[in-house]
Amino acid sequence: MADNYKIAVIPGDGTGPEVVAEGIKVLDAVARKDGLKFDYQKFDFGGERYMRTGEVLPDTAVDELRGFDAIFLGAIGHPDVQPGILEKGILLRLRFELDQYINLRPVKLYPGVDTPLQDKKPEHIDFVVVRENTEGLYAGAGGFLRKGTPMEVAVQESINTRAGVERCVRFAFDYCRKRNRENKLTLCGKTNVLTYAFDLWERTFNEVKEEYKDIETDYAHVDAICMWMVKNPEWFDVIVTDNMFGDIITDLGAMIQGGMGIAAGANLNPEGVSMFEPIGGSAPKYTGQNKINPLAAICAAQMILEHFGLSESAARVENAVMEVTANRIDSLSAGRMGKTTTEVGDLVAGLVADS
Ligand code: IPM
Ligand code: MN
Repeated sequence: MADNYKIAVIPGDGTGPEVVAEGIKVLDAVARKDGLKFDYQKFDFGGERYMRTGEVLPDTAVDELRGFDAIFLGAIGHPDVQPGILEKGILLRLRFELDQYINLRPVKLYPGVDTPLQDKKPEHIDFVVVRENTEGLYAGAGGFLRKGTPMEVAVQESINTRAGVERCVRFAFDYCRKRNRENKLTLCGKTNVLTYAFDLWERTFNEVKEEYKDIETDYAHVDAICMWMVKNPEWFDVIVTDNMFGDIITDLGAMIQGGMGIAAGANLNPEGVSMFEPIGGSAPKYTGQNKINPLAAICAAQMILEHFGLSESAARVENAVMEVTANRIDSLSAGRMGKTTTEVGDLVAGLVADS
């Protein structure tokens, strides 16, 4: 009997639908190959729906999504919708309400991919960022005082709970152990200035690490991390950090691994439903042109397989992606791949079928 998985699909805005279609193409190739069954249900959340109905996310959506094994998200962001509405109303709301407390971002340079870092090769760039995904500056704590007056005050507070920090830190230690590469976990903080928030992070990290004697630990300030990610990315195995720093350093990570054409991420609730996405955004100017690189979405699909515990299937996809980057496309940039979006999806799906 085939293993059955229910996947909610939110293609979203811009090029989201195009890249998600290629991700599904590859999942279907995996299903045929490995005797699995994926049932997809589409949800039309995004800018178009919002402009048509005035509703960002229907109230029933979150509960409905809880019934799935995973969520596959394309991209959120529409040029005609004021920035923040869709991001807060869909992406952040789902992260918070589904308690996806980990944002997992592999930073891996695939063969044949250009990195802006001179002399760095795939063996130098292969680490994972574990970003706390439900607290910190993203919690929305704060407000205005005397708004719109010359005496205006804006306060935005970083919320760090012991329980929230601890579950993130524990996840990072467990993940590092399971990954079993360098077995090294680096805490990224700013203990020299943010002496409350990162005091809590550092104390928690130091307490938890006593339970993981097999994992080497390290600490670096976030600004230094940015420096080392450029100068010596090979120093990193797994990095754990808070929501805001994680947001920033993972875009730097995406750039050193070749850009938005390849970068994927997972919003994980290890006890609930998780959401997987290419992190490149909706790229409105390429919409409908069959030019956008679908590899990031295919890598997100690979993370779904990994999440389901289907490591062999996930490895098939990753090997196919590496064959494509190494030998079958010219560049990762939209319009410069020497192939169309659908052709790249066909290539990966074909390689999966032949694997
Ligand atoms: C990300 C994105 C989001 C974030 C935006 C779109 C709200 O940049 O997933 O990193 O800041 O978390
Ligand atoms: Mn970001």
